[in-house]
Amino acid sequence: MLDSKVGFDQFKRDFELSDDDFKIIKELSLKWTGISLSNSKKTMIYGRLNKRLRELEFSSFSQYCIYLKTHTDKEKTKFINAITTNLTSFFREMHHFSYLESHVIPELIEKNAHTRKIRIWSAGCSTGEEPYSIAMLLTQIPALAGWDIKILATDLDSDVIKKAESNVYACDRIQGVDSKFKRYIIEGENETVSIDPNVKNMIRFRVLNLLDTWPFKNTFDIVFCRNVVIYFDKNTQEMLFSRYAKNISNSGYLFIGHSETLNKLSTDFSSVGRTVYLKRS
Ligand SMILES: C[S@@+](CC[C@H](N)C(=O)[O-])C[C@H]1O[C@@H](n2cnc3c(N)ncnc32)[C@H](O)[C@@H]1O
Repeated sequence: MLDSKVGFDQFKRDFELSDDDFKIIKELSLKWTGISLSNSKKTMIYGRLNKRLRELEFSSFSQYCIYLKTHTDKEKTKFINAITTNLTSFFREMHHFSYLESHVIPELIEKNAHTRKIRIWSAGCSTGEEPYSIAMLLTQIPALAGWDIKILATDLDSDVIKKAESNVYACDRIQGVDSKFKRYIIEGENETVSIDPNVKNMIRFRVLNLLDTWPFKNTFDIVFCRNVVIYFDKNTQEMLFSRYAKNISNSGYLFIGHSETLNKLSTDFSSVGRTVYLKRS
């Protein structure tokens, strides 16, 4: 699959990326985002950053690395937005949505009957398909009518948060979405679609780096953090899972990505399904 952040520039090697410069990029990536880049990612990173070098009219990665260190305030966000991997889709890993509907929501309907509130966090939400899928699923559950449901959707990449907030998707993004959700999908101009504003209303999009302090006063019933920690090293994963445990209610749920695991990283959760975890009381 072509990397959408690279395009055809990938095939033109106009700048040299030395091992020393790549080492600087790896260190800054780890420090600022938690993303741990192996040497095998050198070509990918070259492809993602060479557009910035062109825009800045630099002739080498050495110049760019110096600029990154001396003009951090100006360049950090652009650097971060360029290096993140944002692959996502509506109802990605459908088994999670089935589990949510068949197990988690019926439990919460009983557990939270006194407050009629549900709080969900989509951490690392990319361009928004994940939180919109959760919102559509919850909207069509009759027993939740009138409930106060809020979904916080965060990512450290400000470009993807803008895209999610804009709520405009190419038509082909909804191919394969179950017909029962089509009533929440509105056709727009130029072969685009958007999600029903009433569904969007349940979601708040924010830029948040998972390595920073989390500004939450209350805990979440459910956290989705899928296909995010896979880019982090073990220590960062361990630290994050421990923070999730503190920010999830007792008997709340954590959903992680298909190639991720809590095995040997956290004892705060019990595995209850395929990459679905229940927080121990
Ligand atoms: C592959 S996408 C996953 C999107 C969605 N959760 C899914 O599974 O379809 C990973 C997302 O994690 C975000 N991410 C990476 N490091 C992060 C960090 N330190 N804080 C917050 N988000 C981060 C990236 O910007 C990217 O959008």
